[in-house]
Amino acid sequence: MTHPGWFITLEGIEGAGKTTAAAVVAQWAKARGTAVVQTREPGGTPVAEAIRQIALTAGEESLAPEAELLLMFAARAQHVRAKILPALATGATVICDRFTDSSRAYQGAGRGLDAALIETLAANVEQGRAPDLTLLLDLPVEIGSARAAARRGSAAQDRFEQERAAFFERVRTGFLAIADREPRVVVIDAAAPLAAVQVAIEAALNQRLGAGG
Ligand SMILES: Nc1ncnc2c1ncn2[C@@H]1O[C@H](COP(=O)(O)OP(=O)(O)OP(=O)(O)O)[C@@H](O)[C@H]1O
Ligand SMILES: [Mg+2]
Repeated sequence: MTHPGWFITLEGIEGAGKTTAAAVVAQWAKARGTAVVQTREPGGTPVAEAIRQIALTAGEESLAPEAELLLMFAARAQHVRAKILPALATGATVICDRFTDSSRAYQGAGRGLDAALIETLAANVEQGRAPDLTLLLDLPVEIGSARAAARRGSAAQDRFEQERAAFFERVRTGFLAIADREPRVVVIDAAAPLAAVQVAIEAALNQRLGAGG
């Protein structure tokens, strides 16, 4: 019955419901008898979380797009080696809130950085262990932004949240293009009510990873 752990990633624009979905995935995996490690990017280890602060905090100095890209992959390199691969090696299921597809969508489609460079970095940093399944929570930009703003309350916006709608439209389109070419990606209609999103996520998990083990 024990299954070697799955590597499952959640992707989508701000406010899509990634963090909410991670809990649904964790419950599904635990019900199938696997240990679960929930983590997020950028971050997931102390060093990677320190990089997250640099990458996301809106400060006086603007961050060069190439620096942003390399910070994301620096954090990911540490996360993969220090946390994700060791957890998978123990047989745990790793559920990661954002992963390489976010770099493809934000730094690639959003910032316009070279896709070939991103793939070169990804191939090195992922250590040959791509996700088994990626759930892309897709919804219109204005709905995601409204949800993110409501959840944030009076807290300061991060560097990405300060971007305009046109940036997030490019990011959303970038995510959908990945889903078109990568069979590991399942698109979930994240504009639907929470209960319907949960049903869609569980259906995708059952279909792709199997109800048994
Ligand atoms: N299907 C849904 N319908 C309505 N509200 C939702 C739905 N999914 C999530 N929410 C709410 O929207 C807000 C954002 O959800 P969540 O934090 O899961 O998104 P996220 O993708 O992790 O966002 P971020 O990128 O900012 O971390 C939360 O307050 C959450 O409760
Ligand atoms: Mg989140």
